[in-house]
Formats: sequence, structure tokens, C-alpha cells
Amino acid sequence: MLLKKIKLENIRSYLTEEIIFPEGSVLLSGNIGSGKSSILLAIDFVLFGLNPGMGSALLRNGQDKGSVELHFNIDSKDIIIKRNLKRTQTGVTQDYGYLIVNNEKTEGTATELKARIITILNYPKELLTKSKSLIYRYTVYTPQEEMKTILLGDKDSRLETLRKVFGIDKYKRIMQNAEIFIKNLKAKNREFEIRIENLDRKNIEKQEKEKELERIKIDIKKITMDYENLSFLLRKKKEELTGIENLIKEKNRTKNELELEQNNIKNYYLRIERENREINTLQNEINSLEKDLDGKKEENIDELIKKRAEIYEEISSKENEIRKLRDKVAELNSKKDTSESLREKITELNSCPTCLQEVKQEHKHTIIIKEEKNINIILENLNEIAKKIKDKEEEVKKLKDKHEKINTEINEYNIISLKFKNLKEKEEKLKKVDREISELNSKINETHAVIKELDEKIKKFQNIEEKYILFRREIDELIKQDKMIGIRKATLEQNELDFTKTIEILKKEILLMEKIKGNLDYFKKLQKWLTDNFINMMQIMEKKIMLKAHSDFNSLFEKWFAMLVDNGMINTKLDEEFTPIITINSYETDYSHLSGGERTAAALAYRLALNQVINNLMSEIKTRDLIILDEPTDGFSSEQLDKVKLVLDELNLRQIIIVSHEPKIESFVDSVLKFEKKEHVSRII
Ligand SMILES: Nc1ncnc2c1ncn2[C@@H]1O[C@H](COP(=O)(O)OP(=O)(O)OP(=O)(O)O)[C@@H](O)[C@H]1O
Ligand SMILES: [Mg+2]
Repeated sequence: MLLKKIKLENIRSYLTEEIIFPEGSVLLSGNIGSGKSSILLAIDFVLFGLNPGMGSALLRNGQDKGSVELHFNIDSKDIIIKRNLKRTQTGVTQDYGYLIVNNEKTEGTATELKARIITILNYPKELLTKSKSLIYRYTVYTPQEEMKTILLGDKDSRLETLRKVFGIDKYKRIMQNAEIFIKNLKAKNREFEIRIENLDRKNIEKQEKEKELERIKIDIKKITMDYENLSFLLRKKKEELTGIENLIKEKNRTKNELELEQNNIKNYYLRIERENREINTLQNEINSLEKDLDGKKEENIDELIKKRAEIYEEISSKENEIRKLRDKVAELNSKKDTSESLREKITELNSCPTCLQEVKQEHKHTIIIKEEKNINIILENLNEIAKKIKDKEEEVKKLKDKHEKINTEINEYNIISLKFKNLKEKEEKLKKVDREISELNSKINETHAVIKELDEKIKKFQNIEEKYILFRREIDELIKQDKMIGIRKATLEQNELDFTKTIEILKKEILLMEKIKGNLDYFKKLQKWLTDNFINMMQIMEKKIMLKAHSDFNSLFEKWFAMLVDNGMINTKLDEEFTPIITINSYETDYSHLSGGERTAAALAYRLALNQVINNLMSEIKTRDLIILDEPTDGFSSEQLDKVKLVLDELNLRQIIIVSHEPKIESFVDSVLKFEKKEHVSRII
């Protein structure tokens, strides 16, 4: 790290100032209070931020805002960092700042900037305290007043701080962690040992199960073959059984047919019997009819019927005439009665009922004669008509007899004709029945033939039921066997499955155990190595590094103190806790008993030795070529100041910044920056 430039705004005694730092040794010179230490405080602030309570000491009195901007160079990287200060009601605080690395700017809070700077400076992060970096404090810059307190401070805390900055305390941590790790390893190893306790037993179990599985597989193979053969046989037998069942069905069908045909024959015989009885009846009836009709023949009775109709007509007409004549008789009788009545009435009549005039005898007589004449005529007519009626009635009687006779004749003819018809019918029927009988006979013959055929057929199915029963039994037996083999096979297969699963589980368990065993072996080796080697190694390393640091520190401190004091009477060395032991004339003397110049020399020698030892131990930090010394020569004599040059030359650093108001130092530094303060404002001259 090389400082290039610093810009101050309202920092302590400064208003606005820019200071450029050259390479090599630089002296900041000026009177008391001219603003030299302020520059160093500003550098400290801009890099690491505010220390608690430092704000008001930094921001110029009466100002609300201030800032520091530092330009520096690390590994040919140009870096600018700026921090701002502001005054608030509670005090002075930090504001946002920024960092520019090779022209790349990033803004950040105070803490973010600090973290980035620590990275850029490559400082170990564990050595970062809340406010400061110990490394920076013990290598680059120790504030003016703090120099002596390092030496005078509490032994234990100094040793602890030194162990920290030397990076030695990490070995203690490593060992403590290693102990914890070993403890955990032991616990883990015990757990692993328990977990793999059964490994051998599991391996044996697995081998046994595998053997058993092999046997099961062979059994399954065998039983599968048996099972298939049996199934094939069973299938075949079942097919054959179906064939037999079909034959039985056919046999039953044939039997039914036979029964049907036998019934048919029975029916045919019954019918023939019936027909024969009918033939007998018919024959008897025919015989009787033939007897009845013997010598008779069928007549044509149409003429007779015609004649009967004509007679009937004639009877009707005659009877009509008789009726008419009877009507005439009645009419005439009525006329006769009228005339007779009139005659009677006239005879007894004396006066006319109408005109009441007297009827004359003469007149009466005339009328009586006339009426008697009429009565006579009527009587004559009546006689004549009576005669006619009698004749006619006789004629009718004759005609009716004739009609009766013809009628009887017709009836007789009809009966004969009916009997003939009847006879004919019976003969027809007889013929028909004959025909039927012969038809039935031929049917009977046919049926006999069919029955014979069916009988033959049934004979072919002989013993089929017995065969069926035998077959059935055989199949039942096979089914039983099939079932048994099936169950056995299923059991074996289940066993196979179970064994496979168990083996799988065992394999997994064994695999896991072997893995654990592998880990256990490794962990045990590790545990042994850590216990036997690592911790020892760490102890040795810690010791060696501590010894090296101590011896380097001691020789540098001794050398530089001797160079700075150079009177041969005072010797100094470091005890184990890095406390300077000073002997004057072989008498051990307390630090506080030394003169002011001697104390300053011891402090400077201690400070520079510390810088060198840390820089050597931590080769990676980026501040190895810079040191800032504030008033390191307070109380030095002129000769001592000459020695300072030699000591600084031995440091061989690229940039040394020294604050001093000893004019002598100006003669051996490369550059001098002069400061003055006028009217409460510091500036560089
Ligand atoms: N907050 C502040 N505001 C203004 N001035 C301040 C503030 N704090 C300190 N000062 C003054 O700034 C001046 C510069 O102080 P600084 O410590 O830089 O002086 P110096 O050059 O190192 O002196 P010395 O040689 O005595 O160590 C001093 O006069 C100091 O009193
Ligand atoms: Mg000062």
C-alpha cells in the first residue's frame, strides 16, 4: 500500500486541504498543534471508520459536515475512498461514502466500506475488532499516545493480543475444535459399531436365504411342469367327457323318439280296433237297409209332386167357390128375412108411421103379394144354390182323398230314396274306413321299421353311462390333484416372493452396514491420526511459530534498542510473555525507571520489531510496505536521532511517514511536508 493523496474538508484544524504523499520516507513537520497528527487520524478514519466518541474530535468545531478522501495504490490498483461526517443533535456520525477501484465506483454505508477495505488490504477478518483492525494498529499506525501503553499494559491481555496478531491463537482453536471433533467421532464410531454389530450374522442369514431360494426355484420349476402336464391332461379328459355327455344326450333323444314311435303304434292299433268296430256296425246297417230295399227301386217323384200341387190348386179353387155360394145364401136369407118382416109389418100396420094416414088394405095387399113373390124367388134361388154347394162339396171331398193318396205315395217314395241314400253313404264310409285301416297298417309297418332302426341306434350307446361315471371319477381325481398342485405351487411362489424380499432387505441392510463399516474404518483411522498426530502437530506448530515469532521479535527488539541507546550498559530482551526485561549493568530495572529517551527507544524498538514480525508472519497483507510513526523520537538525543536513520534504513520500506518536530530528522528523510496553523486553520506550506 502506497499513500498518494488525502483531501480534507473540515477536519479538526483544517478547512479544505489536499496533501500529496511522495514515496520513500516523508516527514510531516510543524509546530505543536499545527495539524500533523490530524492527517494520520484522518487516514485512520477514512480507512476503518469512526471510533466511538472520535467523531467530535474529527469534525471541525462549528462545522456541520466534513469529509476525508484518500487516494492510494495497492498492487497497481488505484483506489480512492471517501467518508463523510455530519453533525446531528446527538453527536457526530458517519454518512454514506464511496470506494473507487480502478475508476469503478461503489457507494456504501460505513460498515460496508470497512468490510471492502479489509478485503482489499487482505487482512484476516477474525482480527477485526469493532472499531479497528489490530493488524493496522500494530503494523502501520499506532496513535501517538498508544505506543507506550502497549508496553506498559496488562501482561495477559498483551500476550493474548500478540498471539492474535501473530495468528498463533488459531492453533489453540484448531486443537480445541479437534478435541470436539474427536469426541464426536468417538461417539459416532460407537454408534457405528452398534449399528454394524450384526453384519456377520446378516451375511450368514443372507447366504442361507439365498440357498433356500435356489431350492424353492428348482421346486417351482418342477411343480410348474407337473402342473402344466396335469392341466393338459385334464383339458383333454374334459373334452372327451363333453363328447360322452353329447352321446348320452343323443341316446336320451333316441329313447324319447323310440317311446314316441311306440306310442304311435299303440295308437294306430287302437284306431284300427275302433275302425273295425265301425265296419261291423256299418255292415249291419247296410244289411238291414238292403233287406228293406229288396225289390225296390228309386222312383222319379217329380210328376207326383206336380200332380199333388195341381190337386191342391183345384181344392182351393173349389173351396173358394163354396165360400162365395155360402155368402150368396146368407145374402138371400137376409133378403128373405127382410121381405118376411115387411110382410108381417104391413099386415099389422094400420096407419103410416110417417104421415099417420091410414094404410089401405089394398095397398097392403099389393105390398104383401109383391113381397111373397120376392120370397118365393129367393127360396128358389136358395134351393138352387144349396144344390150347387152340395155338388161342389162332394167334388172337394173326392179331390182331397186323391190329394191324400198322392201325398202318402210321395212320402213312401221319399223314405225309400232316403234309405238308398243312407245305404250309399254307409257303403262309402265302409270303403273309407277300409282305406284308413290299410293306411294305418302301412303306418304301423313304417313305424316298426323306424323302431327297429332306433333300437339299433340305442344299442350302439350301450354302457355309455358307466363310461361317463368312470370318466367323471377320473376327472374328479385329476381336479383334486390339480388343486393340490396349484396350492403347493402358489405356496412355493409366495415363499419365493417372501425370500426374495427378505434377501433384498438383507442386501440393503448389509450394504448400509458395509458402508457404515467403511466409514467406521475411515473414522477410526481419522480419530487415531487426529489423536496421535494432528493435535501433536498443532502443538508443535504453535510452539514453533510462537518460538520463531518470539525469537525474531526478541532479536529485532534487542538489536534496535541497542542501536538506539548504544551505551553498552543497558541490555534488553523479551521474556516468554513478550514483556521487555531491561538490565542495566546486570541489574534488572523496571521500564518506568528508565529515562524518557530510553523509554522512547524501548517503545520504538518494540513497535518496529512488532511491525517486522507481523509483516513476516503474514506475507499476504497489503500494508507491508508502509509504516506511520507519530512522534517516535520524543526525548531523543542528537546521537539517538542519527541512529533512527539507521534503524529506518533497516526496515527497508517503500513508504515511511514520520511525524516529528525534530529538525534533525529533515536531514535524512526523502521528503518533508511542512504544516502551519494560522488563525485556527491548518495548512500545508
Ligand atoms: N474538533 C476540532 N476542531 C478544531 N480544531 C481542533 C479540533 N480538535 C483538535 N483541534 C486542534 O487542531 C490542532 C491540530 O492538532 P494536531 O493534533 O494535529 O496537532 P499536532 O500538529 O499533531 O501537534 P503536536 O506536535 O503537539 O502533536 C490543535 O491545535 C488542536 O487543538
Ligand atoms: Mg501530534
